[in-house]
Amino acid sequence: MRIVVTGGLGDLGSRVVRTLQGHGHDAVPVSRRSGVDLATGRGLEAGLAGADAVVHCADDPRKGDLVTVDGTRRLAEFTAAADLHLVHISIVGIDAIALKYYQRKLAAERAIAEAGGPATVLRATQFHSLTAWLARSLTRGPVTLAIGQLAFQPVDIDYVATRLVQLATGASPAAYERATDVAGPEVLTIGELAAMLRAHRGATAPRVLRVPAVGGLMRALAARANVAGPGADLGGRRFVDWLAEQPPGAHRGVNDGWALSAQPPPRHSRCPCHGPRP
Ligand SMILES: NC(=O)c1ccc[n+]([C@@H]2O[C@H](COP(=O)([O-])OP(=O)(O)OC[C@H]3O[C@@H](n4cnc5c(N)ncnc54)[C@H](OP(=O)(O)O)[C@@H]3O)[C@@H](O)[C@H]2O)c1
Repeated sequence: MRIVVTGGLGDLGSRVVRTLQGHGHDAVPVSRRSGVDLATGRGLEAGLAGADAVVHCADDPRKGDLVTVDGTRRLAEFTAAADLHLVHISIVGIDAIALKYYQRKLAAERAIAEAGGPATVLRATQFHSLTAWLARSLTRGPVTLAIGQLAFQPVDIDYVATRLVQLATGASPAAYERATDVAGPEVLTIGELAAMLRAHRGATAPRVLRVPAVGGLMRALAARANVAGPGADLGGRRFVDWLAEQPPGAHRGVNDGWALSAQPPPRHSRCPCHGPRP
């Protein structure tokens, strides 16, 4: 099959491309670097020419609605008009967590449904790299802040890429549908995550300081709205196994620290890997 992958040079998209190629498919990465701009529609028709399906991994949270919502709507209207199966990556808990970015991801899902074409939305929990960054961000020296029962269910980005490939190469649905949510095999408290990160660089476990959840956003996180519910598809490498493969002073492999941030830091200038270390 010829499958176009938007954001196909990004962290997730590049893994989708590699997995597709590994299964003998013709994977076509498209993004601004290849002349396709979802924010304006430039190059979209040419970029999607001859596609049997599209996997949508492109995003730019720094641009507000422009790519996340409007770009997704533009893409969904195009694929709907061409009766092309659109497979979209989304995030577990976006309907309960009042982060601006999550509200945009929810609006993007609605835009896909409204476009009316065959589409599958896969929601995933936070990838290992983002979870590591978040746990580091909540740690100051030997102290980790825990909001209520805050925990994560980090998922292996390669496992998510494989699920996207299975969906894109499987039967196209008649209309919009949600796939079973995908998540990692274990739920880890923020204290457990911070302890693993510190142990990875030879430091002792941090002291966990509980802080009260104030406001709807913190309450949702404290209540673990970011964790997958029963019936989710659980799999991929455990966090500890992923961590063991990272150099102790790792600067690489840390991706979108913006995804849970209310105000996304610009990529590169405030790279998550320059954030506080446990
Ligand atoms: N990180 C997590 O924990 C997590 C969890 C669940 C879901 N997700 C979702 O996974 C998706 C992909 O994340 P990622 O980390 O792979 O992102 P990424 O590495 O930042 O890649 C995004 C890609 O989008 C492309 N892009 C940006 N603006 C564009 C535009 N206007 N038109 C066309 N392409 C554009 C970029 O390529 P160019 O610069 O060449 O345009 C870039 O390669 C996001 O939708 C995110 O919500 C992430």
